[in-house]
Amino acid sequence: MAVDRRDLLIGAGAALAPLSAAAREERKRPAPPGFLWGAAISAYQSEGGNTNSDAWLMENMRPSMFKERSGDACDSYHRYAEDFAIAGGLGFNCYRLGVEWARIEPSEGYFSEAELDHYARMLETCRARGLKPMVTLNHFTTPLWFAKRGGFEAPDAPALFARYCRKTVERLGCLMHMTTTFNEANIRLLVDLMPGVQQAIPAVKAAVAAAAKATDSPRFSRLAYADPRVVSPIMQEAHRRAYDAIKDVRPNLPVGLTLTTQDIQSAGDPDLVAVYQRRLYGDWVEVARSHADFFGVQTYTRFIVDETGVRPPPPGAELTLAGYEFYPQALANTIRWAHAAVGKPIYVTENGVATRDDARRIAFIDQALAGVRQCLDGGVPVHSYLYWSLLDNFEWTSGYGVPFGLVAVDRQTFKRTPRPSAAHLGRIARANLI
Ligand code: BGC
Repeated sequence: MAVDRRDLLIGAGAALAPLSAAAREERKRPAPPGFLWGAAISAYQSEGGNTNSDAWLMENMRPSMFKERSGDACDSYHRYAEDFAIAGGLGFNCYRLGVEWARIEPSEGYFSEAELDHYARMLETCRARGLKPMVTLNHFTTPLWFAKRGGFEAPDAPALFARYCRKTVERLGCLMHMTTTFNEANIRLLVDLMPGVQQAIPAVKAAVAAAAKATDSPRFSRLAYADPRVVSPIMQEAHRRAYDAIKDVRPNLPVGLTLTTQDIQSAGDPDLVAVYQRRLYGDWVEVARSHADFFGVQTYTRFIVDETGVRPPPPGAELTLAGYEFYPQALANTIRWAHAAVGKPIYVTENGVATRDDARRIAFIDQALAGVRQCLDGGVPVHSYLYWSLLDNFEWTSGYGVPFGLVAVDRQTFKRTPRPSAAHLGRIARANLI
């Protein structure tokens, strides 16, 4: 049945029309017991100096997909205590952070006790600030040696990934509150949905070929650029084996899977929603059903689709600095989708907006939380709201010009300056009212 596009969009918007500040306050309810409030960040995007990771090579050669280099990033490798002090001081009770595989296993089969000690100190400091650590084991980057031998295109990659996860959890698992294997395991499937991807393919191929040449490694493969038809089944096996390995070491440590979960709305045939969801999630939903204790929702916007693909944002729509539509209502829709599709406890592990207008960040958070409340009222088990990100950090190929942070970071001095949105989310967290 064809539905008028405007009806659908109006319908979706009306369900979650922004409320006035007073109406929002009135309707607030206590968050469920144990609800996690906080922010998320990744190791590579914040630590700086990850010279042994595949992304570092690709930022530092030509041709490159990267607008600028990560360099020292936020220097969180040294300044993590400051980050935790800010997050804890705001009133958060959780911090989602990553460990960098290339530091823990700098060459194949060699596990660095010194780096594991570093991360142990970091997780202890995190806990000492009242923050429960949710630890990401892989956030888009791999060790250079792993990329050179074929990355997740190599058939033995699952065994290597599972070994790294086992070793890391053997040493650090006692300090983790929860862990996840891959961040946004379906990221390549998302990229394939984006308009203009065909035009970008030659540049990606040229960058990968240059990396292969520079390292004298014809098999060079980077997770973020590899063919999803090849890497998805191997990553799925890697996730399953890592899940089993972690459970073997620490049966009580919750192990989750996070996906990029954007709100798909059809401008035409409603059946297109399921078609595009299938393209975005591939077989990962089945993997989450069989091998995850919880599911991480990571939502930033909506995609309006028709028979020709993902359409540009509607005329007049407010755009974020990341280039897509400002649409905080997306979160409630993806939470409901995840609950129905995966059936595991839902954690919002990322949700955020890139803007220089902090009042819009506050509005985004409030509207997203109104959606979480509606989900809770409807009986959906949502257990966290983790904003992306605590800090302005290295936004991959876009570099440093896309500020998602609750806290600004000076690029020369690394001075952290919390924005009003940080205090705003902190107040909500302290009150534990949603
Ligand atoms: C990723 C982050 C990224 C953020 C904002 C998420 O998809 O996990 O690494 O910085 O989106 O674009």
